[in-house]
Amino acid sequence: MSLSPKSPARLNTLFAKRTQKMKASEIRELLKLLDQPDIISFAGGIPDPAYFPRVAFEQAMLKATSEQAAGIALQYSTSEGYTPLRDWIVDYMGRHGVTCTRDNILITAGSQQALDYLGKLFLDPNDTALVAWPTYMGALGAFNAYEPRYDRFDPQANRPVEDIEADAEAAGGRVKFVYLSSDFANPTGVTLTEDQRLTVLKRAEALGCAVIEDAAYQELRYTGAEVKPMLALEIEEKGDIEDCRTIYLGSFSKTLAPGLRVGWAVAAKPVIQQMVLTKQAADLQTATINQIAVNEVARGVFDDHVATLREVYGARLNAMLAALERHMPEGVEWTRPEGGMFVWVTLPKGMGGAELLVKALEAKVAFVPGGAFYADGSHTNTLRLNFSMSPAAKIEEGIARLGDVIRAGI
Ligand SMILES: Cc1ncc(COP(=O)(O)O)c(C=O)c1O
Repeated sequence: MSLSPKSPARLNTLFAKRTQKMKASEIRELLKLLDQPDIISFAGGIPDPAYFPRVAFEQAMLKATSEQAAGIALQYSTSEGYTPLRDWIVDYMGRHGVTCTRDNILITAGSQQALDYLGKLFLDPNDTALVAWPTYMGALGAFNAYEPRYDRFDPQANRPVEDIEADAEAAGGRVKFVYLSSDFANPTGVTLTEDQRLTVLKRAEALGCAVIEDAAYQELRYTGAEVKPMLALEIEEKGDIEDCRTIYLGSFSKTLAPGLRVGWAVAAKPVIQQMVLTKQAADLQTATINQIAVNEVARGVFDDHVATLREVYGARLNAMLAALERHMPEGVEWTRPEGGMFVWVTLPKGMGGAELLVKALEAKVAFVPGGAFYADGSHTNTLRLNFSMSPAAKIEEGIARLGDVIRAGI
């Protein structure tokens, strides 16, 4: 047999069926277009690099690569994660009402990896994942590979549990988990009240399913009082993390730096042990040197650094809310978050976020159209605005431009 230089291999015809559900992220595609200095972008969802604790990381990396330390930092390590970092997390979780031990913690490559692992652990094709409407599109992306069905989960709605179960069965599977952000959700910025958290736990209990609590933004609170994580509330009720159905996902991405890819999962030991097996098969472990650096920096500057971020981002949130008040025409609504990185805008009915973006880009302002955050692509008259990346003056100018574009479209 001879190899013909002109015959394309067409390997995409061999891809598994599950790849049909994997779509390019609208956000990532969009971010590629935004590398122009004159665009004011509210499209990203990332921390401001001006506030990375760079010096602390420089020192931590130098120390980790010193002659005495490099043998550990550059070596393979355990799948569970770097022990001193897991111990720091035990303390941190304790401060938030979650009593646990090191064995309840797995270090992951960002919380995104934990979402993928939990999809792998729980979802057979056609199983039901209950999600908020809208929800973090990266979670939908992670779960999609496991071919679930999505159903809307609203802790305030009184939809009978039996109906949710019956719909899941009719679709050919079972309800496996509820996935929710408890604080300053991406994309809405909305926080669940303690009552709503307790309702989520009660409904999950009735459904016999897991709760995945995504706490990526938990530390970024600018006003109002902390609400305990769902895992803490469940431990209060049940007395022991080993009896809990909540799986808590934390991340250093929004507090220290996303580039190191360090996050963590906290849950009852059998869940963590299964996640460890998944990690062994997937990537063996999270990068040793990154965990060592994060441990060093967290122990050195975490609280002070978070205090700085709260001040900077809090001022930016205020600037955005004030600018929206000033520049949005009648009929436009938006959320008023107490933290996080996003404000969620609802346009007058009939106006589409995606169409608006085309016009907004002409006016040199960008955002993410909201339809992509709905598992069914509905609610296209919405958009997500990020405020963490822009100083107040830019926010004012960008929202003024956006107000003009919306007014012209009404
Ligand atoms: C709600 C939410 N969860 C998880 C992630 C993933 O974060 P990481 O993998 O960097 O921890 C993000 C990132 O934007 C997010 O917004």
